[in-house]
Amino acid sequence: MNILRRKDLSKAVEDSQAKGKKLARQLGIVNLTALGIGAIIGSGIFVLTGVVAANYTGPGIVISFLISGIGAGLAALVYAEMASAIPVSGSAYSYSYVTLGEIVAWIIGWNLVLEYAVAAGAVAVGWSAYFASLVQVLGLQIPKWLSSSPLEGGLINLPATLITLAITSLLIRGIKGSTLLNSVVVVIKLAVILLFILVGVSLVKPVNWSPFLPYGFMGTVQGAALIFFAYIGFDAVSTAAEEVKKPRRDLPIGIILSLLVSTVLYIAVGLILTGIVPYRQLNTAAPVAKALMSGGLRWGSLVVSVGALAGLTSVLLATTFAQSRIFFAMARDGLIPGSLARLHPRFQTPYLITAAVGLFVALIASFLPVRTLAQMANIGTLSAFFATSVGVLALERRVPPESLPFRVPFSPYLPVASALFSLYLALNLPPVTWIRFGVWIVIGLVIYFFYGYRNSTVNKDPGRLQPAALQPAFKKRRE
Ligand code: ALA
Repeated sequence: MNILRRKDLSKAVEDSQAKGKKLARQLGIVNLTALGIGAIIGSGIFVLTGVVAANYTGPGIVISFLISGIGAGLAALVYAEMASAIPVSGSAYSYSYVTLGEIVAWIIGWNLVLEYAVAAGAVAVGWSAYFASLVQVLGLQIPKWLSSSPLEGGLINLPATLITLAITSLLIRGIKGSTLLNSVVVVIKLAVILLFILVGVSLVKPVNWSPFLPYGFMGTVQGAALIFFAYIGFDAVSTAAEEVKKPRRDLPIGIILSLLVSTVLYIAVGLILTGIVPYRQLNTAAPVAKALMSGGLRWGSLVVSVGALAGLTSVLLATTFAQSRIFFAMARDGLIPGSLARLHPRFQTPYLITAAVGLFVALIASFLPVRTLAQMANIGTLSAFFATSVGVLALERRVPPESLPFRVPFSPYLPVASALFSLYLALNLPPVTWIRFGVWIVIGLVIYFFYGYRNSTVNKDPGRLQPAALQPAFKKRRE
């Protein structure tokens, strides 16, 4: 049994060109950065900031943003190298199939479901919270039983269900329309965040910043592990690799740029938010709107809620898109049924997969609380970051560094630091998250051994196996 078999790189690229399964190349740097920011800025800043500041960090949330931002930044460089060396759909899943072997790839792909689909669930729940707050400012009320999970005393989170289904049908209709919409929404999102920063500065009372670390430094680290959620998504850029016009140049730029912009905004928002309202009062699902409200700016609160809704919509769009592309890559490899990868005859999108992803997201968003979903998303993402960082080391051992289009600086130290950082953050998540994660992996392994191992295209066609060294494949591609 060869569970560590690796897929040949040239085959991976060939697969992405296969007739009937080829996606159209229409994205450039601007679309990619918009896709990245679209995927990154969402529930993390608009929802979780409040919970984290109130319960783990106080104003020290700024340091948490810095800590998890460093972790994400290290991983971003690693992803940039991978995405430019292996410009195919599927992100960490595809990278590990070429560098670390099939079973690792499967587990990573399986964990990416946590990163994308489960994160999308958390975002849909955040969307619902801002929708409820908006409706409330307008003098209406959504009953609790219709807008929260059974674990929080509700019955179903209906706004979360409905927005997810709407986004899914949009994605089925095609990426072009969705990227245009995404760009518009990203502009709105950035505008309201800047508005919050500009207006908020004058409402800050520096006395609220003390004590700065009410829960001590360890609280700040735990806060970093949870708020890490805010950075999830930059790698969504890499899942669109097959739809990018010049992937080798534009992917690294898109990834790094979108992460940088988000980090700066997060730190500014965290500082101002905790400066306007005493941190204990931030334990709410719509903290940004609340801060402006308590500063007497009802109009500001309204505008921010509308902008947050737009922003959360774009995150939902990007994460659901990314999940469907990862499943697309897995189906093409035979690890899940290949018939799922069929494209829609008119829209040319993987419609069966997108529909399945949408239903799953709608289901979890309807019935689970945001914090549980965010913690699962974090552990899944951190495990993918860990594997991708180790994967870069494996890649660099097989490929002459000069043949890599983009290389991580200070390798191997930086990839090692990235792997350790991801592990450290993951270890600071609550034990119950680790238990759930263990159960998730066991389910994944059962599926692999009963289905994926036998049905993988690499198993059926040994010609797709990677030769002992990656080098020849790279040489061939550079000619
Ligand atoms: N980073 C994304 C968010 O904060 C997942 O919503």
